[in-house]
Amino acid sequence: MNIHLTKEPQKNNEKNNSDHFLNDVLTGLHSSPKHLSSKYFYDKKGDELFQKIMAMPEYYLTRCELDIFQNKTAELSKAIRSDDEPFDLIELGAGDAMKSTYLLKYLNKKGTDFTYMPIDISGNILSVLENNLKEQLPDINITPLEGEYFQMLKKAMKLSSRRKVILFLGGNIGNMTQKEAEKFCASLHQLLNSKDIVLIGFDLKKNPFTVLNAYSDQSGITQEFNLNLLSRINRELNGNFDVEQFEHYESYDPITGACRSFLVSLKDQQVNIAGETIDFEENEVIDMEVSQKFSKSDIEYLAEKSGFLIEGEITDSKNWFVDSIWKVNK
Ligand code: AVI
Repeated sequence: MNIHLTKEPQKNNEKNNSDHFLNDVLTGLHSSPKHLSSKYFYDKKGDELFQKIMAMPEYYLTRCELDIFQNKTAELSKAIRSDDEPFDLIELGAGDAMKSTYLLKYLNKKGTDFTYMPIDISGNILSVLENNLKEQLPDINITPLEGEYFQMLKKAMKLSSRRKVILFLGGNIGNMTQKEAEKFCASLHQLLNSKDIVLIGFDLKKNPFTVLNAYSDQSGITQEFNLNLLSRINRELNGNFDVEQFEHYESYDPITGACRSFLVSLKDQQVNIAGETIDFEENEVIDMEVSQKFSKSDIEYLAEKSGFLIEGEITDSKNWFVDSIWKVNK
C-alpha cells in the first residue's frame, strides 16, 4: 500500500502568529464599536467547542451538508472530475473533514487519481484528521498544509501543476463580511487556472427562528464558544478578562441574512491586555462574528462579481444549504 503523508515542516512562526493575534485584538478593542475576529475562536478548546456545536440539535448546518456529502456523492464526484485527469483536491478549513471523507472514500473506490490537501489554521485539528484518514483510507495521497488559506494555497499551487479542485465547505464563507467575501473569491479566481473548480457551501436564508436557534442554543455552548476567545486572550496575551462579566447575545436580520454574535459587558469594567487598558461601559458590546445567510441571487452575484461561472448546485433534501460549483472563467 502506498502511504504518502508529507506534512509541511512546522516553521518557527509561532512568535509571528502571536504578534498578529495581539495586534488584531488591541486594534479591535480600541475601535468603536469594539470587535474581535472570529478566526481566533479556534484554539484547542475552541476546536472542541465547535465540535460540540456541530453536534447540537439546533445546529442544522452540519446535518444539511452531511446529507449532501452522504447522499449526493456521485453528483459531487461527477461535478469535480474532468476527463479522469489527475487533480489536487484542496480543502480550505478542512477541520476534521467529517463531510469530505465521504467524497474521499467515493473517489478512492472509483480509482480516481488525486491528492487530498487539507488546509487548516489549527495544527491540532490537522493531526486529528491525519490520524483518522490514516486509519480509514490508508492508500490515498495526503498533503496536510497548516496555515492561512492563501499562503497555503499558493504553496499547493507550487507543489504540483495538476488541476485544482477547491472545497470551501461548512458555510465558512458566511463568516466574512460581504466585502471580505468578494475579495476572498476574487483572490481565489486570480490564483486559479481555467480548468480549476471551486465548490463552496452556502447556508441559505430560511425561517428566521431556525437560524436564530442555531446560534443561541439553550445549552449555552455557543456562549461558551464566544467567551472562550476572551479566555484565550487571558491565556495567550496576558489578559485579565473576567469572563463571567460578559454575556452572549445573538441577532438575525432575515432581510440582509446577517446572523451576528456579540458579547455584552455586564458592568462598567477595565480589562488589561499585555499592559494596555481597555475600558468597557455597562451594556457595551464586542462584535464577535457574522454568520451570513444567502439567497440564490446573492450567490449568483458573488460568483459573477469575482469572475466565476456557476456550473451547478447541489442542495440538501430540505433546501436549506447549497454546495455551489463554480468554474474559473478566464
Ligand atoms: C464555522 N462557521 C461556519 C460557523 C457558523 O455557522 O458561522 C461558526 C459558528 N459560530 C457559532 N456557531 C457556529
